[in-house]
Amino acid sequence: SETQVGIVGAGPAGLMLSHLLHLHGISSIVLEARSRAYCEERVRAGVLEHTSVELLRNAGLSERLNREGLQHHGIDIGVDGIRHNISFLELTGKCVTVYGQQEVVNDLIARRFADNGDLRFECGDVTLHDIEGPQPLIRTNKNGNFDEIRCDYIAGCDGFHGISRFAVPAGALTVYERNYPFAWLGILAEASPSRDELLYMHHDRGFALYSMRSTRITRLYLQCAPNENIDSWSDDRIWNELRIRLGCTDGWLPAEGPILQKSVTGMRSFVVEPLQYGCLFLAGDAAHIVPPTGAKGMNLAFADVYYLSEALDAHYRQNSDEQLRQYSSKCLARIWKAQRFSWWMTSMLHRFHDESGFDHKRQLAELSYVTTSRAAATSLAENYVGLPLYT
Ligand code: FAD
Ligand code: DHB
Repeated sequence: SETQVGIVGAGPAGLMLSHLLHLHGISSIVLEARSRAYCEERVRAGVLEHTSVELLRNAGLSERLNREGLQHHGIDIGVDGIRHNISFLELTGKCVTVYGQQEVVNDLIARRFADNGDLRFECGDVTLHDIEGPQPLIRTNKNGNFDEIRCDYIAGCDGFHGISRFAVPAGALTVYERNYPFAWLGILAEASPSRDELLYMHHDRGFALYSMRSTRITRLYLQCAPNENIDSWSDDRIWNELRIRLGCTDGWLPAEGPILQKSVTGMRSFVVEPLQYGCLFLAGDAAHIVPPTGAKGMNLAFADVYYLSEALDAHYRQNSDEQLRQYSSKCLARIWKAQRFSWWMTSMLHRFHDESGFDHKRQLAELSYVTTSRAAATSLAENYVGLPLYT
């Protein structure tokens, strides 16, 4: 096969890139290791920045989002069982939208197929060749049939465990990394949310997050050990812990219901630089990971591919490679601000088992500051709704 841009991975980054390129009249082929059903059902992130909603609207992808997305004007931060509201709308004039990542992925896949997009699922052994250029090549095998895709550029959108990043020769990339001594146990429950905004709760037993997916489904997380064994968490134990950590002094408790899904997600901060090597451009989780506390993962993936689609458009339409050359530095400037925000939210809200008395007091002061100072709350708000994309 032959195409202009070969895209590895059909997550939010790869699918959105393929759609944006299509809008610019640029052809692409998306190669995905998993099945379509697996991609559509995978439960992950849930919060869209104002910035991402704008991008989806401008790309003509907001029909179901407008109907089913839940607009949130702010979040609550809980300390000592007391909720403190941070109103993004009042502080920044902007909102965020709760709309599950798998809904976004479903919409993107449906739209790509409706536009005759070339999405190939269940591709085995994807490998990248001649990425120095000018004619890179992707090889794959589907059910024993080998295929070669010739292209001008390759977009590595295959997530943190993908192969694209590893196709770059050792030494050409610098890794910046930080690990956290905890993970999140996440559940999806069949329970109508008992409040309409998210609650980020600081608690002596560990952080807890109250979130949702729809008017019928609640999403909840508990800080746990990095190697937590999910089998030791019965449904009763999970609800009990959620009641203890999320329960508020005014009597508010999360609504309970059957648990539909549970999983443990590790936490790290990770960035590789640069995001380009020859004809290969990395985007999304393939290039960077944030701890989930700032709700940035999927949003960063969208920002990367927006910049990449604009740069490729400049290449094909104006014969200018200036934007492609600046892709990495342009993305990284925004990525590092999201890294800082995600690290900061994570550090402020979790219990660190090795913290000193000083660190603990400093953390409590930070929480008190952010929940009482308009200046501090505004800083949280403008980062949470998403720093500007169009600069
Ligand atoms: P992905 O969504 O990872 O997509 C990459 C795609 O590439 C996948 O479909 C994968 O199957 C495919 N692929 C991988 N290897 C290959 C290969 N060799 N060949 C072909 N295809 C390949 N963020 C939040 O903000 N909040 C959350 O609660 C949250 N929870 C998460 C839970 C989990 C378990 C994980 C892994 C991530 C979570 N994230 C969360 C992060 C967020 O989901 C990601 O930032 C987002 O999915 C990034 O999109 P992406 O397209 O870059 O990568
Ligand atoms: C959700 C996940 C997050 O990481 C977050 O910060 C807020 C909400 C969620 O899955 O709903």
